[in-house]
Amino acid sequence: MTNQTARGMKDLLFDEWYKFKYIQQIANKISSFYGFLPAQTPIFEYTEVFTKTLGDSSDIINKEMYTFNDKGGKSITLRPELTAAIVRLFIEKKLQTPIKLFSTGPAFRYERPQKGRQRQFHQINFEFLGVKDPKADIEVISLAQHLLTEFNIDKNVRLEINSLGSSETMVKYREVLTSYFKKFQNDLSEISQNRLIKNPLRILDSKDEKDKLIIFDAPKISDYYTKESLDFFEQILNGLTALDIPYTVNNKLVRGLDYYCHTVFEFITESLGAQGAVFAGGRYDNLVSSVGGKYTPAIGFAGGIERIMELINYSVKERRPICLVPIGKEAGEYALILANKLRRNGLYVICEYNGVLKKRMKKASQVNAKAVLIFGNEELGSKTLKIKNMDTGEEKVIARASIMKNIHQTLLM
Ligand code: HAM
Repeated sequence: MTNQTARGMKDLLFDEWYKFKYIQQIANKISSFYGFLPAQTPIFEYTEVFTKTLGDSSDIINKEMYTFNDKGGKSITLRPELTAAIVRLFIEKKLQTPIKLFSTGPAFRYERPQKGRQRQFHQINFEFLGVKDPKADIEVISLAQHLLTEFNIDKNVRLEINSLGSSETMVKYREVLTSYFKKFQNDLSEISQNRLIKNPLRILDSKDEKDKLIIFDAPKISDYYTKESLDFFEQILNGLTALDIPYTVNNKLVRGLDYYCHTVFEFITESLGAQGAVFAGGRYDNLVSSVGGKYTPAIGFAGGIERIMELINYSVKERRPICLVPIGKEAGEYALILANKLRRNGLYVICEYNGVLKKRMKKASQVNAKAVLIFGNEELGSKTLKIKNMDTGEEKVIARASIMKNIHQTLLM
C-alpha cells in the first residue's frame, strides 16, 4: 500500500478546508442575491449525459473522462463538469423557467496535473435557464464580477469575451476556417491537424507557437455574424460598460466545450501560469433541446475553487480554548460534566486530565488557551473553581453556579 494520494488528487487540511468552505459559502450567498437556488447533482451520471452534450471534439470526451462499468454493466462517468448534469436534472425534474441554479462540488478530469490543474477539482457553478435576452448574459457576468470583488481578487483577474454568433454563423465560419487551415495543414501541430477534421474552431485555442503564427491571420468570426447576433453581442458589451465591468473582446476565444453559441467568456489571471481561467462560461441555447428537452436558451459559468484558493488571502481567526485542569480522581470525573456544559454553551473546551500540574499548565499555554479552570477536592467541596486568565496571569476563585458569566468577565480582565 502506498501512503499517498492518487496522482492529481489533493487532501484539504485545517486552514485550507476553512478557505475552501468560505469560497462555497460566499458563492452561495452572493448568488442568492441574484435569485439563484441551490441544486446538487450526484458526482456520477450515466455516461451518455456527458457524451451527448460536451461534443465529440472536446478534450473531455476524447481523453479526460473517468468512465467505468458498474456491477450491473452500466457505463458510468464521474462528472467532468456540472452543466450537463444540471441540464439532465432540469429535464428530468421538469423545472419551470426561468430558473437560476447554483451548485458546488467535485469534478473529475484525467488531465496532466500541474499548478491550478488537478484530476479532482471543485467548481462553483451557476446556470440561468430559460431567458434569451442580453440582460441575462450581463447579469450572469456581473455575478462573476461581484464574486471577484467579494474575494478581493478583481484587480488581478480580467474578463475576455467573445461571441460565437448563431448556429448559421458557426456553420459558415467553420467552413471558412477549414479552408483557411487546410492551406497550412502540414505545418499545423498534430493536435490541430486532428481538430481540423473534428472541430476547426478549437484550433484557435492552440498553445503551440507555430500554430499561433498561422492562427494570427485566420479569418475572424466577427466578419460572419448575422445582424441579430451582432446586435445581441453589442447590447451585452454596452451593458457591461454601463455596469463598469471592464472587458476585452477576444475574437479567438472559442472555449473547449461544443455546446456554446453566442456569448463565451473567461475571467483570466496571469498569476496561475498556464492555467489562468478562474471563471469560464457562456451561452448554450441549444443544449437542452439537443438532449430531448424543450428549446431552452441558457447561460452559465463555473469557477474552479482551487484556482480561487490560490488567489485569495484568507486567514482563519484563531479560536482559543478554555482548558480544564482537574486535580484528583473526582475532579477528573467532574471535568467531563463541566466540559459538556461549557461546550453546550458554545465554548471551545479542552481537558488536560493527567500529569504534573506544572506540565499541564504548560500544555495549556502551548495550545494558546484563553483561560484555565483548575479544581480539586477543595473546589469540589465549596462548589467553586479557580480561573486563570492566561494573558494577564490573574487568578480568582469563582462560584460554579456563575461559571458562564465569570468566564466572560475573566476573559475581559
Ligand atoms: P470549464 O472551462 O471546463 O467550463 O471549467 C470551468 C472552470 O473550472 C475553469 O475556469 C477552472 O477554473 C476550473 N477547472 C477546470 N478544469 C480544472 C482542473 N483540471 N483543475 C482545476 N480547476 C479546473 C465548464 O466546466 C463549464 N461547465 C462552465 C459552464 C457553466 N458553462 C456554462 N455553464
